[in-house]
Amino acid sequence: MRELLSGRTREYQEKARQVAETAVRPIAAELDRTGEYPWPVIRALREAGLMGIWIPEAYGGKSAGVLDLCVVVEELSRACGGVGVAYAVNALGSFPIVIGGTEEQKQRWLPFIATGEKLIAFGLSEKASGSDAGSLRTRAERDGDAWVIDGDKKWNTNGNAASLYTVYCSTRPDRGSRGISAIVVEKGTPGFEIGKREDLMGIRCVPVHELHFRSCRVPAGNLLGGEEGRGFGNAMATLDRARPGVAAQAVGLAQGALDWAMRYTSERQQFGQSVMSFQSTQFRLADMATEIEAARQLVYGAARYIDEGHPGASKYAAMCKVFATDVAMRVTTEAVQMFGGYGYCRDYPVEKYMRDAKITQIYEGANQIQRLVIGRALTKEAAALASTLQVQVEHFAPGEEPVAPAGKKP
Ligand code: CAA
Repeated sequence: MRELLSGRTREYQEKARQVAETAVRPIAAELDRTGEYPWPVIRALREAGLMGIWIPEAYGGKSAGVLDLCVVVEELSRACGGVGVAYAVNALGSFPIVIGGTEEQKQRWLPFIATGEKLIAFGLSEKASGSDAGSLRTRAERDGDAWVIDGDKKWNTNGNAASLYTVYCSTRPDRGSRGISAIVVEKGTPGFEIGKREDLMGIRCVPVHELHFRSCRVPAGNLLGGEEGRGFGNAMATLDRARPGVAAQAVGLAQGALDWAMRYTSERQQFGQSVMSFQSTQFRLADMATEIEAARQLVYGAARYIDEGHPGASKYAAMCKVFATDVAMRVTTEAVQMFGGYGYCRDYPVEKYMRDAKITQIYEGANQIQRLVIGRALTKEAAALASTLQVQVEHFAPGEEPVAPAGKKP
């Protein structure tokens, strides 16, 4: 349903597909084996004008929407999930500045991200605070004209490739999540070190590192928005915008695995005919294709809501993340099954799709957290439903209470 996209979004899609086919697919297996950062792809993305498209034009970007970002991530991930996140994580790292930076901070950092000259990472998670992001312990204390940061971050995607880091710190531990502030730290700042690189199951070309801060003095002007205590809301609003990107990565991975499953089953002969000619295979492929399309449309819909500033966008961002990433896991696993023994070995690319897909259910908020976000939104909506449904109750059962009030026996 490509034609439902606007001309501008289709242009981004076309360009991204071109980069994916010429610069990503030929090296995807090699990147997976070596774990090398996809610098040649970053160069190709810069040449194609695709880096930092989400940055407002005033700061050198293209003011592209989350939907545009999603189609680019989808196309890249169809060829390699690692490359998809290497690109998308720059949006995750820079949305906090776009959303909450002062004019001076936007002028200072965003133009470099818009051109791809500098990559940026997002430092929220810690060893002891993953899903419960509000419990983070990294401290920042004001000392004259600087913030002094002490603590450690975990799961920092793009870790050693980035040169800018949005780091969430507690500046007022007595205030819980309301005491969290976001501070931009530049690589090379004394007291800031990139730590251990994680040995991951998938997305192996993207370096995921620990970050260490030891009496790290950062200029006071690096406090995002110039105001303390706004970090947690900033991180949540950032994740609302970024989660459709993870969902798009999942759609791309699922589509990539389906592409391979279709090619393999149409070429593979068993019992004197192609595996695809068996109706059971066609039914499985039909389910995979249908689920992918449903996921894609939910991702695009959620992205549109975000671009339009819809008040319920947070719920839809969570919905598309949960749905698309679960679809990606099912579809990539099914693709491995269709390849039989060949699917389980590294001679074919489908096992990589399955490994890459797994992380999409985990990062940027585990799917259990997405369900929590959706559940909380539904809880709020339930209050409005009580009066709406009352009309129907009166029609079907005049005088009856729809539900026994609390404390009363039905
Ligand atoms: N937008 C703006 N503000 C929001 C918000 C949103 N979507 N959601 C919550 N807030 C605000 C609330 O209004 C509240 O503000 P006040 O204190 O002023 O009232 C405040 O944030 C706290 O809200 P909650 O009480 O709802 O917070 P909580 O502690 O219950 O946590 C949560 C909510 C949804 C579980 C949140 O902690 C969460 O999203 N956890 C997952 C974190 C996550 O996704 N981490 C991934 C990091 S990135 C990564 O994976 C690595 C990488 O590099 C890719």
